[in-house]
This record gives sequence, C-alpha cells and structure tokens, in this order.
Amino acid sequence: MSKASELKLNAIAKDARKHQCDAIVIGVGQGKDGPVLLPNPLPPKADKALSDSLGILGVTGAVDEVRRMPGLPELNADVLVLAGVGRKGTDDEYDDEAFRRAAGSAVRQLAGMESVLLALPASTLAQAAAIAEGAVMGAYSYVQYRHVSAASQRETVRNVTLHTPLADDAELATVLNRAAVIGRCVNSTRNLVNEPPSDLYPETFATAAKELSRNLPVKVTVIDEKKLEKDGYGGILGVGKGSSRPPRLVKVEYAPSKAKAKLAFVGKGVTFDSGGLSLKPASGMMTMKLDMAGAAAVLNSVLAIAELGLPVKATAWLCLAENMPSGTAQRPSDVITTYGGRTVEVLNTDAEGRLVMADALAAASEEAPDVILDVATLTGAQMVALGSRVSAVMGDDGVRAAVKEAADRSGEQFWPMPFPEELRPTLDSSVADLKNIGDKFGGMLTAGIFLQEFVGETDGEKIPWAHLDIAGPAFNEGQPYGYTPKEGTGVAVRTLVAYAEDVVSRTS
Ligand code: BES
Ligand code: MN
Ligand code: ZN
Repeated sequence: MSKASELKLNAIAKDARKHQCDAIVIGVGQGKDGPVLLPNPLPPKADKALSDSLGILGVTGAVDEVRRMPGLPELNADVLVLAGVGRKGTDDEYDDEAFRRAAGSAVRQLAGMESVLLALPASTLAQAAAIAEGAVMGAYSYVQYRHVSAASQRETVRNVTLHTPLADDAELATVLNRAAVIGRCVNSTRNLVNEPPSDLYPETFATAAKELSRNLPVKVTVIDEKKLEKDGYGGILGVGKGSSRPPRLVKVEYAPSKAKAKLAFVGKGVTFDSGGLSLKPASGMMTMKLDMAGAAAVLNSVLAIAELGLPVKATAWLCLAENMPSGTAQRPSDVITTYGGRTVEVLNTDAEGRLVMADALAAASEEAPDVILDVATLTGAQMVALGSRVSAVMGDDGVRAAVKEAADRSGEQFWPMPFPEELRPTLDSSVADLKNIGDKFGGMLTAGIFLQEFVGETDGEKIPWAHLDIAGPAFNEGQPYGYTPKEGTGVAVRTLVAYAEDVVSRTS
C-alpha cells in the first residue's frame, strides 16, 4: 500500500503577518445578529473593514463555508480565507469540535495549495489539538487507483502552521505530535476501507497489518485457515467458506512493560459482504467493501496507542473473511461450532458479522483482559436507528458510559443503546445453542445481544465489555464535510485511543 507523504504541522505565536504561506485562514462564526469575525491576526483596520463587509460579501459563517479573498498588502500570503465555524454551543463558547471541523474543512477545500496558516483562535491546548487533528484529517485524499484522472486531482496541503499564543508552551509539541499520530492512524483506516476488495482480502489485509506495524513495538500474529481449523474457529471459517480467498484471524499486540491495564479490541473484518447465499440485492452490495472498517479501526487504534507509548496493554483482534456465495459456501440452516464450543444455527448467511466476531470475542476473553471493546459495521438497523453519522454503543453500563465520554471528547458521535431482555429469547434455536437472527424489530440490539453471549468471564465475573456498531458512520456515501472525506471515514479510532488515555488517567 503506498503511503501519501504526510502533512507537516507546526505552530507560531506572533508575527502572523510576516509568515509566508499560500493562505491565511481566519474564522467566521454565526452570531445572533449575523456573521462575526473571530479574533484574528489581521491589522485592526483590516479586521474592522472586513467585519463590516461580511454581510454584503454574503459570508454567513456556516460550517463548511470556505471563502477565498485576495491577500492584504500587510500579509505575506496571496490568499485570505474565511472559514465558517458555525454557532456557539450552549455554554456560549465554540466547542472544540467546531474548530476541528472548520480547520478540516478549510484544509480539505484548499487542496492544491502548499502551505496554510490556520489563524483560528486557539487559546487552549484542547483547541489547538482539535485544530491540528482537523487539519491532518482534512488533508486526506485517496488517489491510489487513479491513473488517467490523477493529473486533475489537486494535491493535499503539505504544510500547516497553527497561529496560537501557546506556540511557546512546552506541551504544545506533545499535543501536535498526538494530533499527527491520531490523524495518520485515522487516515490509514480510511485507506484500508477505501481499498477495493479485489486487492484487499483476508491474506492481503494480514500483510497490510504487518507492514503498518513495522517500526512499532507491536507483535503481529497471523492465524491462517489451517490453524483456524485446528483450533476450532468455526465462525470465521463458516463465513469464509464460500470464498476462494481463505480467512485469517490477526492478533496485533502492544504490551509495554509498565502497563496499567489490559485492553482487548475486536474488529469485524469482512473484506466484502455479498451476503453469501442469503445474497444481498445489487443496490445493497455496492458499498460492502466497507465491512472491514471495524478491523481497520481496531488495528490502527492499537498502532496509535503504541506510537503514543501509552502505558496500557492493547490487543487488536482482526476477524478477516470474505462472505461469498458459491458451491462451498455455508447454507442457511447449517450449524457451526464457534471457538470455545458454542453452536450456532446459521439461518441467514448475511448475518455473518456476528459469527466472525463470536470466535474472536471468545478467544480474546481467554486472555482475561480488563475490558473488551468490539467495533463492527454490524447491522443496517444501526442506520435505521441513528442515521449515517451517529454510531451506537451497547453493553455494560459503565463501559458504555466511558466509551460515550471518550467519544464526546474526541469529536466522534456515539449514542448509548439498550439490551431489552425480551430480545434474548428470539435468538433461541430449535437445533443449536443459538441462531444467528432474531425477530424483525430491534435488529441492532439483537445483534449486540448475540455478541454478548461470547464475552467470557474471569474468576466467575463477566469481562466488562461494550459493542460499537459503526455501520453508517464508517462510510460516507455523500459529499465530503468538515474533515470527513467521501467513503472511508476512519471512525472509532479517535474514540478507542481516547478511551485508552482515560483508562491511563483513571489508574494513575
Ligand atoms: N454488513 C452488514 C451490515 C451493514 C449494512 C453495514 C449496511 C453497513 C451498511 C451486515 O453483515 C448485514 O448484512 N446485516 C444484516 C443482518 C440481518 C440479515 C439480520 C442486515 O443488517 O440486514
Ligand atoms: Mn451481512
Ligand atoms: Zn456484514
């Protein structure tokens, strides 16, 4: 996989006017009485003149608005850019996410420029972090498969400088480094999701996991189809049976010596979901390369945690299989034996995610982690419930709340969902321990309840666990917005890393 060259991030505190670059970006908010310029380094006269003309220029300050103006004689940039940051939050401040999106939108829309100065008012480290993250995530494009049209594709911005009074703060370097690491891992997740399934299948995904781990203190173990067979991974094998490209289970471990906790992340890695013999209609299949987004996210989360050197043990389990119909495919009414021995009657081969996840949840449990978080593009019902931009989090109350908190801080939208007790019996099978589909309603919840059955115990206590269904948010079928490009979004990486950081700060 080719790596695009990376965005360079730095910061200056003063002399924005002397700073030479292609564009200076300043913020415009949507005030109660119309657009307002945010504090910026323009000469006061210019600031006043521009403020007075926002209305006649038709500038609104709305999110994703990016307007180019001629640079001023006092500036050392050809272009002055007005970037919308939207409205203030309920506490009468712009929240960090508003800055993250404005920075991302500006950097994304200024593709073709070499260097940009972001003069959004960053007065706290959290704001500077948000702006830097937005910039790295906004400077993304997927060009690997362009050949003839490559020339018309504008290059992403190469250099971003933050204008902030914190530039001389010793902690800012740490903040910028964290933003660069997180942004890179989000972008790497997007690359994996975007890669066509003709080239990304279980074996090549496993190779990519090894390549991405090179130079990092992580250990990658690939369990191939023979070993899966030998050790009884019937879920992953059952789903992979119809494909000419055999499944893999990949374990990526980061185990620093002074670990304060032990986290396990399990990711759904169905490299293409045709539905299998319970074949999807053509319209439902077009985006199904996205079905490995959970595996891509857990992989990159562990890599980010390793690169940041967090004192936690983190293991990612990637359940990789291609769900295809063929003469060797599993049939509706087949019974499989998942890892650990529980049997499942497969009544719908399109409910395959829970089968591959069942194996890995059981395997991860054997290592007695302090918590298991699983990430999966598990159900279409997730999008019915929450739309395409809000992910669901289910599971144990405490873990679910902690995930929600980590997500809120990271700028990812997650919403807690319940496990109503009446849904569990809908998974009872007349021939096996469980069946893989329940009743019609509450499909996202039933899928979560199915997974819960495979979370193990340590010393007679259920391992704390949460399930993240990212079916909608993993893939943007619409136009780019904020720092989010088309197709793979890289969702869940920021939340998992923030969760790990929270574990560290709670235990220290
Ligand atoms: N990968 C799909 C879920 C999905 C759908 C993700 C749309 C992203 C966008 C999953 O394997 C699936 O097919 N689920 C079925 C389950 C059903 C058969 C119980 C679904 O949601 O229809
Ligand atoms: Mn499916
Ligand atoms: Zn699927």
